[in-house]
Amino acid sequence: MSIPLCTPHFDGRESQYVLDCIETGWVSTVGTYVSRFEKAICEYTGANHAVAVNSGSTALHMALIAGGVESGDEVIVPSMTFIATANAVRYADAQPIFADCDDNFALDVVRVTTFLNAQDIRKDGIWNRETGRRIKAVIPVHLYGYTVDMGDLVSFCRKHQILIVEDATESLGTFYQDAAGKRHHTGIQGDLGCFSFNGNKIITTGGGGMVVTGNTAYAETLRHITTQAKIDPIFYVHDQVGYNNRLTNLQAALGLAQLEQIETFILKKTQHFNYYRELLEENITYEIRDYPEDLRSNKWFFSLRLNATPALESRDKLIQRFLNEKIQVRPVWRPLHLQEPYRKNQVLDVSTTEKLWNSTINLPCSVDLTRTEIDRVVEVLNT
Ligand SMILES: Cc1ncc(COP(=O)(O)O)c(C=O)c1O
Repeated sequence: MSIPLCTPHFDGRESQYVLDCIETGWVSTVGTYVSRFEKAICEYTGANHAVAVNSGSTALHMALIAGGVESGDEVIVPSMTFIATANAVRYADAQPIFADCDDNFALDVVRVTTFLNAQDIRKDGIWNRETGRRIKAVIPVHLYGYTVDMGDLVSFCRKHQILIVEDATESLGTFYQDAAGKRHHTGIQGDLGCFSFNGNKIITTGGGGMVVTGNTAYAETLRHITTQAKIDPIFYVHDQVGYNNRLTNLQAALGLAQLEQIETFILKKTQHFNYYRELLEENITYEIRDYPEDLRSNKWFFSLRLNATPALESRDKLIQRFLNEKIQVRPVWRPLHLQEPYRKNQVLDVSTTEKLWNSTINLPCSVDLTRTEIDRVVEVLNT
């Protein structure tokens, strides 16, 4: 039996909606499914505006540009994330500064604000004392179904005119409570939030993304720059260098049908998660990391922590054991400060990031995973 890490699941109106696009001829970046999908994302997340784009990476890039990140700026990014987060900063010709995460893979807000407080604080923003560059933005990433505590970060950044672009690409379906007990979806407390609908995400459009924002001017800029900055649709007049970055109607049709099923997907993933935890309850070497109680996580990925004095070798041996048994697992994201394109970038203390990288792997977590498959994963784990 081979068990993949995370596969898409199509069990709703996907074919019906996609066929409708083909039969009506509306297959490209304009069409009712694009607007319906955007509206449905707004309703689900509570966002005011949503702009559909062709990937999560594009969403991050466009959000940074719309939010005013310029050439030579710096942006704080967690080292523990997929490389797309930092690459988006480079697409905007800015530079990432790498920060640590906490035990739940969430940006360490205390360390970030401590670092920022020690920089050159001016009336109109914060400048890095080491590089002399403006620190324009922070990208908190809601990783693996966990969330960054946004309250303190939002108040600090508002006070110092630092833009917040939330990388919520992995967290559609994740709701958390603020200090006052109010429920929020991820991605909507910052200035702009980004989602991904890549093949392994909780819902997929094949490839795709969405930027959400409460700011009407940002939303207008996003619509403008993602459609080649066209100001006249007949004479094709353009007022700046734009991009061809919108989602197609075909992809949006798929996305809408998937979004209709998201709660069922999360329910099934929660059942798998609980079953893994039940099987590993007594195990002192391995632990399926739980989620904070006030979090309604989408349980996108399951993280297995190696508790026994984690060493890189034992993690890699464990991965190899799974791969030999045709069970697809992988370590958590390789920290970005260790990746070739970012070796020279500024790095804050990232000790928790390095600890997690050495001691955590992701286990199979597809929506249609069976109990027999979970039994098999745990059997291999215990051999
Ligand atoms: C944390 C994170 N950021 C950004 C992305 C980029 O999304 P996409 O693959 O849709 O470009 C992904 C997903 O792949 C991701 O996991």
